[in-house]
Parts: sequence; structure tokens; C-alpha cells
Amino acid sequence: MEVMAGLPELLAAALQPAFDRFEPGSDPVVRPSGRAGVDFQANGAMALAKRLSQRPSEVAEQIVGWADLQAVCSSVEVSAQGFINLTLADSWLAGRVGLHAGDPRLGVVPAPRAMTVVVDYSHPNVAKEMHVGHLRTTVIGDALCRLLSFAGHTVVRENHIGDWGTPFGMLIEHLLDIGEEEAAHELSVGDLDSFYRASRAAFDASPEFQERARHRVVLLQSGDPETLRLWQVLVDQSVAYFQAVYERLDVLLQPSDVVGESSYNDLLPVVVQELDERGLLVVSDGARCVFPEGFVNRDGTPLPLIVQKSDGGFGYAATDLAALRDRFGRLAADLALYVVGAPQAQHLAMCFAVAEAAGYLPSAEQAVHVPFGNMLGADRKMFKTRAGATVKLGDLLDEAVVRASAAVAERSELDAGERAAVARMVGIGALKYADLSTDRIRDYVFDYDRMLAFDGNTGPYLQYARVRCLSIFRRASLEIADFLNGSVEVVISEPPERALALALLGFSAAIDETLATWSPHKLCTYLFDLAGLYTTFFESCPVLKAPSPEVRDSRLVLCAVTAATLGLGLSVLGIEAPERM
Ligand code: ARG
Repeated sequence: MEVMAGLPELLAAALQPAFDRFEPGSDPVVRPSGRAGVDFQANGAMALAKRLSQRPSEVAEQIVGWADLQAVCSSVEVSAQGFINLTLADSWLAGRVGLHAGDPRLGVVPAPRAMTVVVDYSHPNVAKEMHVGHLRTTVIGDALCRLLSFAGHTVVRENHIGDWGTPFGMLIEHLLDIGEEEAAHELSVGDLDSFYRASRAAFDASPEFQERARHRVVLLQSGDPETLRLWQVLVDQSVAYFQAVYERLDVLLQPSDVVGESSYNDLLPVVVQELDERGLLVVSDGARCVFPEGFVNRDGTPLPLIVQKSDGGFGYAATDLAALRDRFGRLAADLALYVVGAPQAQHLAMCFAVAEAAGYLPSAEQAVHVPFGNMLGADRKMFKTRAGATVKLGDLLDEAVVRASAAVAERSELDAGERAAVARMVGIGALKYADLSTDRIRDYVFDYDRMLAFDGNTGPYLQYARVRCLSIFRRASLEIADFLNGSVEVVISEPPERALALALLGFSAAIDETLATWSPHKLCTYLFDLAGLYTTFFESCPVLKAPSPEVRDSRLVLCAVTAATLGLGLSVLGIEAPERM
């Protein structure tokens, strides 16, 4: 099969021989055009003209004269500034959509250089509730994993759970006080917060408990087998609970993706020794620190990254340095993404700088912090329950599905069994889509009514748009697959057909842009715009009642490719799409 690519790449390829005649390898710089009646523009003549000290419009005219664009464009015009304005020929577009229809990847070419990418996401803490703050990292991180795999990269998911530190002393003592069985029960049913709170209360109330907890930390750190066994009970129960949430959220994370903080324990002294050997360690107030270049306090004094505290304990930073060493060493990662909230920006930047200085990270741009904003309540403050408590992630999912059931029941004729499955896809899909469709850097207001609406830029709207495409085939007793094998000729004559065709051919560019800035909302916007163009097409171009069998079949290809694009687009975001609803 012919290798497919996006429209800008195809146009650039068609223009390349003409650009090469001016200067071998010069870039045609093809971009979508904002002008009415123009689809793309090639801006490369301007840079060429500058280098050769010629008039841009003259260079552009020459290139147009040399270029063979007859089959591709219906109009090629040079602007006074030297832009080459390109309008694609309907016949060529139609041919491309025909080819596109036969490509299961819908024009997305696998990356020529496959990378190994570690994605650090979700990372909840043992014996603590997963709350709404973990929703964003989990949903965004998961979408990025799926997109990267689809683009042809090797993805290593790492769930860097918080499973080590001094609180485990008190948690283990509390576990012993209430009995192992009771503790396991509380944790397995997801009552993590009360377990944690009860431990804390016991700690605050009794000096005797505090003493036991402190001693327990020492036992844990020295590797006492019985203490480790109790610690493992806490970890296992929590991981089982996290897994149940992941399954309901339909994310890819598995227990085997858990690489908790504790897994780096043996590496911590090695990291300290290596930092020391490389002359990076400075003892400051008894603590062993690194002062990476360019990081200063408000008063201008150098900012330390504390690797080992004065009491000999290792901090969060030591663990992150060990993780970087492991990811770029043992795992030979080409890239590591940290899907971690914006408040940890400085911590991560310092860890990356120190890792680079230590030689763990080959080059700074290979570790990327992918931050995200907060989820807010209707009052634009941090999202809380009415009573002011933090919202458990599990409760949020329950409510989304309950509300989706009501919405689906209202509009659908499906039987009860099918309805439950659809309600789950709609509810969970709505929640994930609401998160993904907002620019991840920004805060967003959590609003069930808005995310579950069947109009606007929502998950249910896109799921429903796809169902509408599919239902045409069902009504006419046709197999959609017969229109997705590249065998049916596409003809384009009406403007809405043309606009839809152009949008369909833009799928690979949308994926590229999404991955270029790790911004799932770009793919969401693309899918939303596509659904809008489909609606316009559908309202003005009769499909089953088309003027001729050829036009009908051609329009059915447009419907089929729209359904396929919406389905694939949602699936690489991690959102399921029902066949009927
Ligand atoms: N467990 C941490 C928290 O809940 C997040 C870990 C982020 N990942 C990392 N490599 N530091 O805040």
C-alpha cells in the first residue's frame, strides 16, 4: 500500500523539485492558509529570496513555473510578498480521500525513528485516597501513552507511586493495632482516607504510639523482614484499589506498571556516591546538596537540591535522580515525560539539571515536564464536596455514570442491558473528554451538566456524531467496511463535501500537532470541528437520496471515513465509542 501522509507533506513533496532547482534541500514551508478560497500556502520562497538577495515574488514565480502542480491544484497564485497560494483541485482531493478510506491508520505514518518513551503518570500515594487531583495526570498521561504508541513509539508506563517514607511507621503501627485483617479490609474497599486519618489521630494522641511509629521507621529502613511484610500488605491493598479505579476509568495502567519510590532504595547511596565523585555534592547545614546552575532563591542566593538530609535520610529528590538514572540507563529511554502538576515544576527542573550534570540524562530536552492546571468547582475554588472534603475519584466516576444513565435513558431506545454499557461509555467518556479538551495548562471548572451535554465540545456529542454516521449504514443495510477498503470512487462537487474531505485528510496533522506540544486538546478541537463539518455536509448533501448511485456511494465513503476518524481519534484519547446510543 502507498505510504500516506498529511496534505502539507504531500504538497511540500510536489514542490520540492522546483525548490531544489533554486537551492537543493530548501524547505517549501507549506502551511494551512487562512484566506478564503485558498487551502495552503508555501512560504519558502521568502527565505530563499533573502539568501539570494532576489525579489520574493520573482523567486516564487520561478518556482511555480518549474513546479508540476497541474494534477494537484486548481489554482496556484503568487502574492506580492512571495507567498505561493495553493488551492487543491477537487478531483485530486477526491482521489486522496479514496486512498485515505483504504488506510486503517487514516493517513498517520508511523514515526520514521521510533523512540522509547517513559511516561511517568498517575502516581498516587499508598494508603491515601486517589482524589480528583490524580484524575488529570491519569487521564492526560494515558492519552499521551496511547497517542505515542499509535505514532509508532515504544511506551514504558511508570506509575511512580508514593510507597516509602516516615508515614509508614505510623501506618504500620495502626495496622497492627486494628489487626491485619481489618486493615486489609478497610484498604481493599477503598477506605484509604479513614485509615490514614485514624493512624494520624493515634500518632497525635499518644507519645507511646509516636515512639512505636519512630521505631517502626527504623525497622523498615533497616529491612526487618516482618516490617517489610506488613509494609507490603499496605502496598498490595492500595495497588489493588488503584487498579480497580484504573479499570473503571479504562486507562492502560496495570499493577506491573507500578515502579514505586521504594524501588529505587538500593540506588540512593549509589546516586550520592556518583554525585560526590563528579564533584557535585556540597554539604550545607549538614545536608548533602547539589546547587544546579541557574536556580536561585528570591534573595538571589543559590537554591539547593537536597539529596541526603543531615540525619542520613534520603529525600524525594534523591528518588527522582535515581529514577532518571534508571530510565535513561537501564531502560535506555530516548525521552521521559513527567505528567505531574504545575507546582512541582521547579523540583523537576532542578532534578533534570542535576541529572544532566551527573551524566544520567544525556541532554536536557530529553526529560519533559508536562504540567497541568487544577480542576475547580463551580465557585472557581479547588474542587471540594459540599461539606468541604476532597472528592474521592471513585465517587466522581460513580456520579458521572449515574447521570449518564439518566441522559441515555431519556433519548435512546436501547434495551436495559445495552443501555448500561452505553451509559458507562458516555459517563466515563464525558469525564475524560472534559479533562482532555481543555488546554491542559489551564484550570478548568468541573461541571457534570456541561460535560454530559449532547451538544458543544463534549464527549457525548462526538460519540453521538459517530453513531449518526454509523446509523446510515444500518438503515440502508450496508456494510461500512465496503466503503473503507479504498475501492469506491470519491467525487467532490459540493462545497460541504470539499470542506469535509479536507478536514478528514487533516487527521495526521492533528495528531502531529497534539504530540508536538503534548496537548490532547488539539486533537479534541480537531474532532469537534470535524463533527461540525460533517453536520453541515449531512444537512445539505443527501446521502441515501443522492442524485445518482455514484454520488451516493461517494458520500457514503465520506460518512464512513468520518465515523472511522471519530472512532480512532476518540480511541487514541482513551475514550470508548458505542456503536449505538
Ligand atoms: N506521588 C507524587 C505526588 O502525589 C507524585 C510523583 C510524581 N512523579 C515523580 N517522578 N516525582 O505528589
